[in-house]
Amino acid sequence: MTYLLHTYGCQMNVRDSEMLAALFESCGLLPARDEADADLILINTCAVREKAEDKAIGKARLLCAKKKTRPLLVGFTGCMAQRLGHELFKRVPRLDFALGTRSFNVIPELLQRLRDGDTRIAYLDPPTNSPGNPDQHLAAPLSAFVTVLLGCNRRCAYCIVPDVRGPEYSRPAADILNEVQTLVQNGTREITLLGQSVMRYGLANDAWHSSTSATYREPFPRLLHAVAQTPNLRRLRFTSAHPTGCTDELIDVLRRHPNICHHLHLPVQSGSDTILAAMRRGYTRDDYLNTLRRLRAAIPDIAITTDIIVGFPGETEDDFQQTLSLVREAAFDNSFIFKYSPRPGTPAASLDDSLSPEEKMRRNQLLLDLQDQVGQTLNDNLLHTTLDILVEGPSLRNPSRWSGRTSTNKIVIFENPGSISPGDLLPVIITRVLPQTLYASLASQ
Ligand code: 5AD
Ligand code: SF4
Repeated sequence: MTYLLHTYGCQMNVRDSEMLAALFESCGLLPARDEADADLILINTCAVREKAEDKAIGKARLLCAKKKTRPLLVGFTGCMAQRLGHELFKRVPRLDFALGTRSFNVIPELLQRLRDGDTRIAYLDPPTNSPGNPDQHLAAPLSAFVTVLLGCNRRCAYCIVPDVRGPEYSRPAADILNEVQTLVQNGTREITLLGQSVMRYGLANDAWHSSTSATYREPFPRLLHAVAQTPNLRRLRFTSAHPTGCTDELIDVLRRHPNICHHLHLPVQSGSDTILAAMRRGYTRDDYLNTLRRLRAAIPDIAITTDIIVGFPGETEDDFQQTLSLVREAAFDNSFIFKYSPRPGTPAASLDDSLSPEEKMRRNQLLLDLQDQVGQTLNDNLLHTTLDILVEGPSLRNPSRWSGRTSTNKIVIFENPGSISPGDLLPVIITRVLPQTLYASLASQ
């Protein structure tokens, strides 16, 4: 039997899909070349916005229509599967199975039931405060995600994640360190530690006690310090960050380890104190800007990227202007901008969402344009400088054009004379810049 995964959403989902692929393969399934070649297609879904959900449902219906001409098993997993639960079988009547976000340990049993001809199989128990999922990887990827914190205990007013990914569960530090060591010994060069609000690692349970480091008192800095010491680990990242987690201890760890990358994805969501309070974010605009100042004072070249929501209930033109001015003041390297989408059951869902789609679109576009200007100005300063990149591989469209990433997580395009391989860490000279892409020539040429 062959399988194919379609993955929507964030890095957490990318990691879950990798884990599912590893589980399928350990049960004897083979990766399919494409949809036509697949016996089983699993759609890993996101629930953050309604649009992402509609897309996944549309995709599943299209796939189920193919069952008329050939045998095909279609399933859902991920955040939307957890949110909609059994309703999925109403919305996609020919769906074969649905799998919740913390139920991957049922894969062998699920496959057996599918082979026995069972259908409409549901493993959708609400996510609880337990690990739930195994930690398999495919063969060590060049760049690997390692989940350290499952779930989320924050209750941002707009966000469905605590409902669909359950309460926080911090994996034991010893397990995380083992997983990282095994990956690196097998060739992984870059590790990204994952958690919805990763700096809350070890705060809701005491998983850090087994960590080897006594240098730091707070669990996340302590974990990061221990992971950074893994021999031969070239690059270490973590996501997502939260301003309240940027403590002096954390900043000290970032400064001390040259393999910790100079990039933080630090979602701000809004530049207006009124909206930040309504979102229940737990910081003000000034707190956020102060955090940036402290980070940049310690690590001058640190890149900061962010998420912003436009059109949150009650966002006035004045609130929006404050977000625009924050983007200028914060000088973000990149911003991901989202139009507010009410999610049933969240605190904000009962608020008045009457801003027109056109107005949300206008605010979205103004922010995108501003971010392009800000990004271009920052990248202009990188022209003719030498930066180290971790080589990723050839571009699909033009194989002589290769790409890599800087420590600051910027994509760099360069020509490979043939001597360079994925995983190489090498210096390049920046020759041309766009708001989100750098072009370079090899430093040694
Ligand atoms: N509507 C729009 N954007 C949202 N996000 C989370 N929930 C919503 C929502 N209901 C955005 C936030 C978050 C990113 C992953 O998705 O900006 O940081
Ligand atoms: Fe990731 Fe959140 Fe989307 Fe789930 S709902 S895939 S956690 S962004």
